[in-house]
Amino acid sequence: MQPPHLLLFLFLPLLLPGMWADPEAEMQVFQLLQTSLFTNVSSAEVFGVAFLGDVPIYALEPANWSIQFHWPWARQATAEGDAEKIKSHSKIFLRNMVRYVHETAQQAQLDYPLVVQIRAGCVLHPNRTTWGFMDVGEGGRDLIAFKVEKQRWEPRQPTQLAELVSKSFTSKKSITALLEHLLSISCQSHILTLCRYGRADLERQELPVATVFARTPKPDQLLLVCHVTGFYPRPISVAWLQDGQEVPPGPALNTSTILPNSDLTYQIRSILAVAPCDGHSYACRVRHRSLGNGSLLIPWENCSAAPTAGITIAVLLLVAAASAGAVWWWKRRKGNEGTWETQEFII
Ligand SMILES: *[C@@H]1O[C@H](CO)[C@@H](O)[C@H](O)[C@H]1NC(C)=O
Ligand SMILES: *[C@@H]1O[C@H](CO)[C@@H](O)[C@H](O)[C@H]1NC(C)=O
Ligand SMILES: *[C@@H]1O[C@H](CO)[C@@H](O)[C@H](O)[C@H]1NC(C)=O
Ligand SMILES: *[C@@H]1O[C@H](CO)[C@@H](O)[C@H](O)[C@H]1NC(C)=O
Repeated sequence: MQPPHLLLFLFLPLLLPGMWADPEAEMQVFQLLQTSLFTNVSSAEVFGVAFLGDVPIYALEPANWSIQFHWPWARQATAEGDAEKIKSHSKIFLRNMVRYVHETAQQAQLDYPLVVQIRAGCVLHPNRTTWGFMDVGEGGRDLIAFKVEKQRWEPRQPTQLAELVSKSFTSKKSITALLEHLLSISCQSHILTLCRYGRADLERQELPVATVFARTPKPDQLLLVCHVTGFYPRPISVAWLQDGQEVPPGPALNTSTILPNSDLTYQIRSILAVAPCDGHSYACRVRHRSLGNGSLLIPWENCSAAPTAGITIAVLLLVAAASAGAVWWWKRRKGNEGTWETQEFII
């Protein structure tokens, strides 16, 4: 039911590695994703959602095909330019699409149920060039794709159905010319309008929260985990330092992709495999736009320092009870949550 290639494209933004990018130098992706389920010759259920990057912008209400906006600014942005025209014609487009699928199913003698997926949108590069795309999948596989620059549809699988549909779409010259316009010019201007109205949400900055802890999958292996969450925007740099030197990429280092949280922030995790008691000191270093030129540094004392840390804390506990000065010091230590957590873990 889920086309692998379409899905790969869908999650492409999620798979891009965490980069330390210039805010102005990021590409923007706008896409409409639509899935339609045709159970029989007389039924059609349509689901649709639009994303700017990972941010859901609006969705199609399956019951009555009205558009539900996720943000007040999305409504404003959609009231401008070609987006307004597309919105007001969306029900006509959907009715035509449903009719076309049923007609094609009859013509090509396809068996119900049918699942048709459409992904359309554009990528706006920092140099202001746009790359438009539109893909159609059927039954969980890519079927046809629109080549914007050639204004033609091409099969994406060697079947009669893909041949038939791409030929029939390509022959409709007024539609291919309209699509070319929508997927390049209209889409680009829609991205810019969305970014303008949604600036406060899209350009906000949320500080990362980082914690370091360890796992011991095997007696001779220690996995140091640096978990960073709650940050926005997406670009971030997470590195491990060994005795102050950045650990280069290699088999010991495993950094996850950047995953979205439900509150429009992100998380990432970086795992470093080390030998217990190897005599080195480690630290997880996080850099993010919200930290300016600074960085978060969460140290981990590998084994050798652990007893010292334990004793230090025990002594501190005693002294804190008696001395106001120690209380202040204690708070200062506690303020550095990452350090505190790592030491607590060792004890
Ligand atoms: C077609 O499918 C819909 C929804 O799945 C169902 O409610 C309806 O009864 C079906 N109609 C026929 C003619 O089978
Ligand atoms: C469409 O349905 C949704 C939810 O069922 C409802 O909130 C909305 O008012 C409806 N819109 C129209 C135009 O009927
Ligand atoms: C704009 O940037 C994209 C992606 O970096 C690149 O593929 C394209 O060739 C550039 N176009 C121009 C005209 O510089
Ligand atoms: C990284 O971690 C993932 C998930 O925990 C695992 O599937 C993958 O094999 C790991 N890669 C390396 C190079 O250790």
